[in-house]
Amino acid sequence: MRVPMIAGNWKMNTTVSEAIELVNEMRRGLDQIGNVDKVICPPFISLAAVRELIKGSSIKLGAQNVYFAEKGAFTGEISPLMLADLCEFVIIGHSERRQYFNERGEIVNKKMVAALKVGLKPILCIGERLEENEAGKTEEVVTEQLRSSLAGIDYLNGLVIAYEPVWAIGTGKAATGEQSNETIGLIRRNIAKLYDKEIAQGMRILYGGSVTAGNIAEFAQQPEIDGGLVGGASLKATEFLSIVKQTSEIKTVK
Ligand code: PGA
Repeated sequence: MRVPMIAGNWKMNTTVSEAIELVNEMRRGLDQIGNVDKVICPPFISLAAVRELIKGSSIKLGAQNVYFAEKGAFTGEISPLMLADLCEFVIIGHSERRQYFNERGEIVNKKMVAALKVGLKPILCIGERLEENEAGKTEEVVTEQLRSSLAGIDYLNGLVIAYEPVWAIGTGKAATGEQSNETIGLIRRNIAKLYDKEIAQGMRILYGGSVTAGNIAEFAQQPEIDGGLVGGASLKATEFLSIVKQTSEIKTVK
């Protein structure tokens, strides 16, 4: 059985003191919810402080990005080794990185290789843009993103995939549970083809894009969807707690 997961992607929000405040607001509540992995991904500069605050709790920590070199003259970048010392997960290939920082195919693949090498668990984001969706190219796009991101990788170390249709991110216009379940089923079949059936069955695949406390149930009820990657709603303690709690309850019943 796959343990469901809710990951909060704080994006470029919160100063260090605001991050501390937010963790303090949700730490206790989050820690008490079982049968779901709870991951928070604050900005790099808050990782160390947040790590101290969640020590001894069941809350896990992730970063939002990583560079692919181990160390050296790459001013301003953060290496996988630095992160492995601080956190368990790292988001790779988020559509905002693809769109604003031109990170696609080969770069995403290099980041995946580098993260896995040091024992980080990637949360790999894939998803189609609006025009691709409208042109009926969703299947083609996610299949290609999956193939190029995972090229040459045979050790997956608890890799998590987040299916995030780009048109649903930050727009308030979420996909439907049914649509996402179908695409996530397709992603799982692709993983089975690239690896094997057992790996595909054990892999957690999340939905992301305008997830809220009001719509999480629709996604969590779907058999292929193992939870969510939550942006905006992860910055509100009460709402994030509600998302995690609903997921836990729905997945426990099933
Ligand atoms: P959103 O972001 O929940 O604000 O749409 C999701 C994401 O980008 O991971």
